[in-house]
Amino acid sequence: MSNFDIVTAFRDKGWLDEMSARLTRKMAYGVKKAREVSWMPYTASGGEWSKTEIGFWTNGFWPASMWQMYLMTGEKLFREEALRAELMLDDALKDFKNLSHDVGFMWLIHSGVRYALERNRDSFDRTLFAADMLACRYNVNGFLRAWNPAGREGWAIVDCMMNLPILYWASRQTGDPRYRLMAMKHADTTIKYFVRPDGSCNHIVIFDPETGEYLDNPGGQGYASGSSWSRGQAWGLYGFTLSYIHTGKQEYMDTARRIADYFISQVRGDWLPRCDFRQPAQPVVRDDSAGNIAACGLLELARSLPEPEGRQYFDAAVSILKAQEKDAADWTEDDPAIFTKCTVLYSEPSCRHITMTYGDYFFIEAVNKLRGEKLLFWDP
Ligand code: GLY
Repeated sequence: MSNFDIVTAFRDKGWLDEMSARLTRKMAYGVKKAREVSWMPYTASGGEWSKTEIGFWTNGFWPASMWQMYLMTGEKLFREEALRAELMLDDALKDFKNLSHDVGFMWLIHSGVRYALERNRDSFDRTLFAADMLACRYNVNGFLRAWNPAGREGWAIVDCMMNLPILYWASRQTGDPRYRLMAMKHADTTIKYFVRPDGSCNHIVIFDPETGEYLDNPGGQGYASGSSWSRGQAWGLYGFTLSYIHTGKQEYMDTARRIADYFISQVRGDWLPRCDFRQPAQPVVRDDSAGNIAACGLLELARSLPEPEGRQYFDAAVSILKAQEKDAADWTEDDPAIFTKCTVLYSEPSCRHITMTYGDYFFIEAVNKLRGEKLLFWDP
């Protein structure tokens, strides 16, 4: 039986044309504003891109958005901006000791993509170096270390599922299975210690770095320990889907579906994800980034399955994208970014309902998927 075809299934071509036109205008404006500053866009306030340090984990989403826009429009402006941003990021590579597990976010989805499209050797080298940096973080007890501060040698986080594709990429490029084997060990550990029977996930798990013994699961960017941070659920949903796509291992598909079913059960109704699915009813703290990441994962899940399983994930993805766009997208030139209700973490009110380049990135990726773009940036 053939897999579900998301492009044929999406009948609202008017919405797609309108989104493409709006994205083209708004992202061109974002580029104009980016060229007025000397830093990488991440969040904006007062109509300007706020200052962000090179080396921050979000740095790759701006050039990745540029490549998505270039594939959507063919406009040179977007390719030129992707290349400008890629060069800016070289300072982070030189400062390699400060890199975290986030190197997949930071290089695969633009340098890896540029290599796939143009066979640029420098882009290949950047991506492989980043993969080596992630491989260095592997603890032989079966997990990838997330962060660098002393005392966090045994900390792993669910977000890392989205960085595994750079390891799968490196195995394919070099013919050396070690990268893939490390990624799969980390994914297996994540199933065991992060994903709960109801499909919800922990954000952080702490292991003894010497023995690998499970120690704790403290609260992270969500509401509390044992709660359900929606962006973490989205990273898990899309991350396990990608691990399935790269390896074909059925347990990854089953896990992605378990997380997806839980995610859908929490947003069915208004289709607007809260920051944490177990946060108090008031105040209503939303996170558009979680919705857009989850929508991309649901679309990939849909096209990895036959009817009717695929359709339910496709329908949920479209419902989330349309609801969030209607509720929180800013298409004006009052601000260079688009989605206005992204949240960094629940506990800090000033980090709620802001814009973030990765909230926007995943919306562009989803629109391109529905337009029929074949290049999966997480498997370039
Ligand atoms: N990976 C960090 C975050 O999702 O905020």
